[in-house]
Amino acid sequence: MHSDIGIIGLGVMGKSLAMNMLNHEFKVSGYNRSFSSVQELIDKGYDQFYGFNDLVSFIDSLKSPKIVMLMVPAGEPVDQMIKKILPMLSKGDIIMDGGNSFFRDSERRSVALSHEGIYFYAVGVSGGEKGALLGPSIMPSGDKAIYPIVGKILETIAAKKDGEACCRYIGKLGSGHYVKMVHNGIEYADMQLIAESVLLLKAAGYDNDHISDLIASWNQGPIKSYLLDITVNILKEKEDDHHLVDKILDVSSHKGTGKWTSLQALEQDVNVSLIQAAFMARLMSNQASLRAAFSNDSLPKITIDPKLIHQAYKLGKLIAYAQGFALYQDASDQYGYDLDLEAIATIFRAGCIIQSELLEELRLVFKDEPHIENILLADRFKSWIIDNLDALRTVGSVAVNSGIPTPIYLEAATYLNQSHAFSLGANIIQAQRDYFGAHTFKRIDVEGSYHHEWE
Ligand code: 6PG
Repeated sequence: MHSDIGIIGLGVMGKSLAMNMLNHEFKVSGYNRSFSSVQELIDKGYDQFYGFNDLVSFIDSLKSPKIVMLMVPAGEPVDQMIKKILPMLSKGDIIMDGGNSFFRDSERRSVALSHEGIYFYAVGVSGGEKGALLGPSIMPSGDKAIYPIVGKILETIAAKKDGEACCRYIGKLGSGHYVKMVHNGIEYADMQLIAESVLLLKAAGYDNDHISDLIASWNQGPIKSYLLDITVNILKEKEDDHHLVDKILDVSSHKGTGKWTSLQALEQDVNVSLIQAAFMARLMSNQASLRAAFSNDSLPKITIDPKLIHQAYKLGKLIAYAQGFALYQDASDQYGYDLDLEAIATIFRAGCIIQSELLEELRLVFKDEPHIENILLADRFKSWIIDNLDALRTVGSVAVNSGIPTPIYLEAATYLNQSHAFSLGANIIQAQRDYFGAHTFKRIDVEGSYHHEWE
């Protein structure tokens, strides 16, 4: 049979990716811990799919060099599976990890496997179940020399935008998983911006159907996006004549990538306050005791023109993407990832969860200025900021004054207020540090570092 690729882990994503490959005429072998998932795929009747219930025959069924794609949960399961299959592989074979693995783990696996003569590819995959089946956005990293081998499969199954595959070689080691991690950070932020917008519109007296229509009207031009698209549908969805959203618990969870992005940004000394606010908002939704003790009986009422919320969303979204891409830019230098930000914007234009017309704008910015530190500095976004800043500030202050929690809007306003401020009060911080710790301070009038005897 000699399959082109073998997939281990036929859960939602693994199965969809396998079907995507089969639909593109690749021969695929499949293995899963419980055989029922393999059987499900066999039952679909693909004549180029070969299902196995033992790893040895699964690996044997692959043509050389063998390409094994792991679609198992991140963490321990990846290490365990690598340990199991390693003795069955030969030098030159390739292991790809298509899960949401932490990039440092991928880096470690990449180095360890290279000592065994095995290539390791860290492959970020975004697009959820539907994307995996119909065309995800794919971020592969590893040894560039073998990219043509894996790229042939990955670029074929990736989403296409303007005829271009939403899959590009990202860089060395775990950089593909790094890029996917930050993608998810941006995803958290955009989701939170939309959630807070809905909350504000509810407080302003609009019902689900009306909010759905309003959001549909926002969903055009440069902010047209998949996340707005699905929110329009979510708000309209009914179960037994009632809106389903109103029956969903006001508590959200996470699987780690937003937290990793938040921690990673601290590690790099880069401000991703919107991503962190979105993550913290998920944590706060789980603060059962505090919420039970203090929660109001109903949503406060506010008076606000929905146009202002639309404008605030537009600017908030730009800042969220700006912070995420600033993190990429920093990692590119700090970790020598040498990321091509134009390529990243290009492959995010379709297939992934954060796909949006905004990515095309970003692509154009990075095409002209590949090393721009922050996209907010681009001329292209000057009027985007100026025209919407007052609305963002108004939305934030209306929300605060009426007790509606909008952490991400407040962080967005704060980020721009800090950037636009005449002073941040940091001179006082310098003086305090010098006062108690002789840390010295820098002066306006002369160069150098100075200490003062304050007492
Ligand atoms: C994607 C998604 C996908 C997954 C998230 C959900 O790009 O396809 O990001 O990877 O749905 O990991 O993450 P949370 O469970 O942490 O919200």
